[in-house]
Amino acid sequence: MVAKLVIDKKREGRALESAEIRDFVAGFTAGEIPDCQMSALAMAICCRGMDERETADLTDAMMRSGECLEWDAVPPSADKHSTGGVGDKLSLVIQPLAAACGLAVPSLTGRALGLTGGTADKLESIPGYNAALSLDEFQRVVRETGLAMTVQTDTITPADRKLYALRDVTGTVASIPLIVASILSKKLAEGAGTLVFDVKCGNGAFMKTREDAAALAKALVAGARAAGRRSAALITDMSSPLGRAVGNANEVAEALAILRGEVPQDRPDVALSVELASLMVSLAAEIPLDGARRMASEKLADGSALAKFEAVVSAQGGDLGRFEAYMKSPVSRFRVQSMRYGAVAAIDAEKVAEVAFALGAGRSKPGDRIDPLAGVDLAVGVGDRVALGAPLATLVKSGGPDGLEEAAAELLKAFTIAHSAERPASLVLERVGLDG
Ligand code: URA
Repeated sequence: MVAKLVIDKKREGRALESAEIRDFVAGFTAGEIPDCQMSALAMAICCRGMDERETADLTDAMMRSGECLEWDAVPPSADKHSTGGVGDKLSLVIQPLAAACGLAVPSLTGRALGLTGGTADKLESIPGYNAALSLDEFQRVVRETGLAMTVQTDTITPADRKLYALRDVTGTVASIPLIVASILSKKLAEGAGTLVFDVKCGNGAFMKTREDAAALAKALVAGARAAGRRSAALITDMSSPLGRAVGNANEVAEALAILRGEVPQDRPDVALSVELASLMVSLAAEIPLDGARRMASEKLADGSALAKFEAVVSAQGGDLGRFEAYMKSPVSRFRVQSMRYGAVAAIDAEKVAEVAFALGAGRSKPGDRIDPLAGVDLAVGVGDRVALGAPLATLVKSGGPDGLEEAAAELLKAFTIAHSAERPASLVLERVGLDG
């Protein structure tokens, strides 16, 4: 394989052979193909695309660049991947819920980059929680508790880590085949037999339009199936934040409230959690979706999902008692009040994320420190009625109140208060890979 000829071929819009893709990725991972050639190929893929077979080959080559796990001796295994949204703490509910329904859930998760927080950062706001397990520890915790949630180690898909760093600086992130290979190679290496995708769509999401979200969802499901996994996706609305908390520690507190049954199951974010867990159960255990929905709903209501969450936190060294104390730490707060009487018609997710980020809840480059207590606590959701002067949200940060007043002025712009507004019936916009 001559790297320059492979780049030429893709630049001319021709399909690459499986062996060309495999050898290129292997050469890049081993450091034999320099970054400039990988960047050129990434740009050619961005401009010319890849068909389904090429995308599956690229995914497979990236998956095989590192360690791949297997789960023969455990119950049916499944994981859920979300493309990430504002206030998206749903993994903290869905993964324990699926495990409470009897699945093994090996969940390798991410840290925050950009505006939206990663599940690992949220979990690390629990004192003692080790979100950086070795792969041996990860496998042991999954076998013992049915679930583990940790960041992916350096030995999983090293090709993706190297390639993503290049894509980030060469304008080659926005390419469906590259995104699919990146997301899917990591999820396939995790070894779960079923993969469910929550593809977020809207101004607070990676995919802003319905067309882009649908293209990504279809490609992810096709790729997972090509790799022999059961798979389905939901395209879900991300125009307003999920739930009420946007940050890190406050999102864990909200997930705990959901798991404790303190939030009604028909609130849209809770209903979406139950639906995604049900999909995992239905596909992995091969039972009808209606039965899986009943089971998931019961396991949330009877405290089994909460018990699973407590078990995994404890198995990974976390202390929920100390977390409750941590949530009472001294912080600076600022309340945002409604300037109008009416109903909340929209809460701009991107704007809320920008404010949470400015308070310290996110990081702009790997290694930046985040403030786990920083964030936005919404007092209302879309469809709620508000009086003049009623609280809309509270901004929170560690340390002094500097910057809070300016942030509050920005946050106010996120709210559209109209004469009347409907509460969304469901966040699910479209189902991919399912009949009903
Ligand atoms: N998330 C990933 O893991 N990879 C991408 O390319 C885009 C989003």
